Amino acid sequence: MILGETEETGPVAFAASFPYSARSCYAGIGEFSVYVRRDYRGRGAGRAVLAALIEAATAAGLHKLTSRVFPENAASRVLLKGLGFDEIGIHRRHGKLDGVWRECVIVERLLDTGSAEYPG
Ligand SMILES: CC(C)(COP(=O)(O)OP(=O)(O)OC[C@H]1O[C@@H](n2cnc3c(N)ncnc32)[C@H](O)[C@@H]1OP(=O)(O)O)[C@@H](O)C(=O)NCCC(=O)NCCS
Repeated sequence: MILGETEETGPVAFAASFPYSARSCYAGIGEFSVYVRRDYRGRGAGRAVLAALIEAATAAGLHKLTSRVFPENAASRVLLKGLGFDEIGIHRRHGKLDGVWRECVIVERLLDTGSAEYPG
């Protein structure tokens, strides 16, 4: 599932979800990514495409969206908190940045428990 936003200059943002795991016990859980073109950040595009992905995933019957964020990624953490994602833990030495293993903050948002309300 991919939601995108396009301007005259071409694609500026997307949010996409894909299966978290091939194991049947995790069916209904979506892993997701959100990305905004560098020159278009800070104008609400990230929030718009991720909010659209949450709505589409909920409508499609997904149970949860989850992802991981590097701790210093302030823009992403503010965006995700604002859309109702909880930070539920830390993966130790889990993602490589510039060849160095880094911690990752685990985020998740339940979609089917009535917590699908978010501001704005
Ligand atoms: C994270 C990212 C998607 C945010 O997209 P964006 O279009 O710049 O964000 P928005 O303009 O929609 O802002 C969303 C919120 O984040 C806040 N924010 C944006 N940039 C920020 C920054 N550098 N520092 C702190 N907060 C920031 C905004 O104030 C806004 O807060 P609000 O919802 O309380 O009003 C974008 O920076 C990006 O593509 N980063 C690289 C890829 C990435 O890190 N993806 C996330 C991994 S899953």
